[in-house]
Amino acid sequence: MLRLWSAISCLLLASAAASASSQSFENSAIVRTIDLGGSLVHVTTTFAVKALKEAAGVYTITLPEDEIFNTSWLEVKVKGKQQPLTVTYSGAPAGSKSHNLDVSLEKPLEAGATINLVLETVQTHTTRPWPQQAAQDEDQSLKYETSLFVLSPYNTSVQRTKLKSSSPRIIFYTEPENVQAFTLENPVTKSGSTVTYGPYSNVPPSANQAFLDKYQQRVVLHYSYDYPVLEVLKLRRAAEISHWGANLNIQDDIVLHNAGPRLNGHFSRLQHQTQSFYGRGAPHVLPLFTVQLPPGIRNTYYLDQIGNVSTSHLRVAPSVSRGLKNTQNSVLELKPRYPIMGGWNYTYTLGWDAPLGDSGSYDPNTGKYIVSIPVMTEIPGAVVNDAEISIILPEGATDVDYVAPFPALSNEISTHVTYLDTIGRPMVIFKYKNLTNKHAKPIYVSYRVPISAHLRKPMAVATVLLVLFTFAMVARRVDLTIYKTPTKKM
Ligand SMILES: *[C@@H]1O[C@H](CO)[C@@H](O)[C@H](O)[C@H]1NC(C)=O
Ligand SMILES: *[C@@H]1O[C@H](CO)[C@@H](O)[C@H](O)[C@H]1NC(C)=O
Ligand SMILES: *[C@@H]1O[C@H](CO)[C@@H](O)[C@H](O)[C@H]1NC(C)=O
Ligand SMILES: *[C@@H]1O[C@H](CO)[C@@H](O)[C@H](O)[C@H]1NC(C)=O
Ligand SMILES: *[C@@H]1O[C@H](CO)[C@@H](O)[C@H](O)[C@H]1NC(C)=O
Repeated sequence: MLRLWSAISCLLLASAAASASSQSFENSAIVRTIDLGGSLVHVTTTFAVKALKEAAGVYTITLPEDEIFNTSWLEVKVKGKQQPLTVTYSGAPAGSKSHNLDVSLEKPLEAGATINLVLETVQTHTTRPWPQQAAQDEDQSLKYETSLFVLSPYNTSVQRTKLKSSSPRIIFYTEPENVQAFTLENPVTKSGSTVTYGPYSNVPPSANQAFLDKYQQRVVLHYSYDYPVLEVLKLRRAAEISHWGANLNIQDDIVLHNAGPRLNGHFSRLQHQTQSFYGRGAPHVLPLFTVQLPPGIRNTYYLDQIGNVSTSHLRVAPSVSRGLKNTQNSVLELKPRYPIMGGWNYTYTLGWDAPLGDSGSYDPNTGKYIVSIPVMTEIPGAVVNDAEISIILPEGATDVDYVAPFPALSNEISTHVTYLDTIGRPMVIFKYKNLTNKHAKPIYVSYRVPISAHLRKPMAVATVLLVLFTFAMVARRVDLTIYKTPTKKM
């Protein structure tokens, strides 16, 4: 939540702005599509907007309070365009449990002009397993709750909400009440795996407490979900840049959690194997998963609390620096020692080395190195509740700077001392909460390494060797009987 506040920042006090702008637009249509998942729920809302006044340049989007608290990622674009628009938080409309976001259009619209705006959000932790427990051979179903109406400070000609499940087995959905003012037909319809609320016509401005009190309501969908619900409780990523050997080492320490229904009864491996043999593994059990790693990696290691896990498959794509136009990733299939049942945790470490040239470069104009480090490696469908990314720079690096794809909850630059370091290495740390697949983007770090720092490590190695060598020479000359004598006496 904090991240969202800071991402859309600033203007906390401008809550009066809405009334001034509310006559500037109307919505010809709003369509909200909710892709029901496990830990992540992707919501795309398209606003077909018409300007009612000259020079209408700021369009206001309103999100209900409960929704904004669970939204971990948000972006607004003009339909068909790549570049996101600037979004600023502009406060809660007086007395209502909702929040306004002001979207600055690239250029103001003329009266009568139209534009399609697309709001994309990712909600985290908004589904819950129901029932809360399941036996090893039972199905998994989840409940999701949202509000019926998409809110807007403007008049809306027609709006609808589509909830899309990955399976047509929808167990329950709420019939809305008191919507006769907006539709004469069925207020909700189900077709295959989609439940549609609306179309609702001629909806007045709804971002006010009077509308919320009169018409807004919760709708619940209970649906079968055929994949495990995954959460990364903790991600600790350490990326260590070494100019010596031109290597980038990345190590992830991960606590993975199956947030599906808790296992009812005992785990039976025999039953699990029989089910898997017949291709009927229960949807809430995680036997293996696949992650995409960079091309050209070496020395990949995968350990859990017991030790090496050998039951994994790695297919390495060639390094990008080999001159080939390679867009392929390496693919690692991780197969934990035992299947992860609902409610269980799995702690593991995954690490690899990659050629530094694949993600770093030297800019002769500024004399600085720039290295890109991905915030995380996506585990498909999983939210990362708590992440800490440490980037360890070469010893003696100065003028450290970074550009993160989105603001961190906290940042610090500190020093990390490892074996053979003389003065320690600068380290940049980023802390995040509730990361989604949309956050798997690179952090860019730039720094300067003075020539003297390049020499420092060889010097340190030379010094250590010299000391060892001297010690060996001395040791050989020492009469070992000195040490034997006392033991003989005992
Ligand atoms: C992360 O999500 C949890 C659960 O929805 C929520 O309680 C928490 O406030 C969120 N934290 C941040 C920083 O967004
Ligand atoms: C909404 O439409 C009604 C009549 O169609 C109009 O009286 C009202 O001013 C409009 N409100 C806004 C905020 O555009
Ligand atoms: C949204 O987040 C809040 C606070 O973290 C939580 O209490 C609430 O249950 C969440 N809403 C849903 C629909 O899960
Ligand atoms: C893990 O296995 C690899 C090769 O399979 C081996 O090189 C490595 O030493 C092992 N590491 C540990 C900690 O057992
Ligand atoms: C999983 O890990 C979390 C946090 O580390 C802990 O609170 C929880 O009790 C663990 N659950 C199990 C079943 O061990």
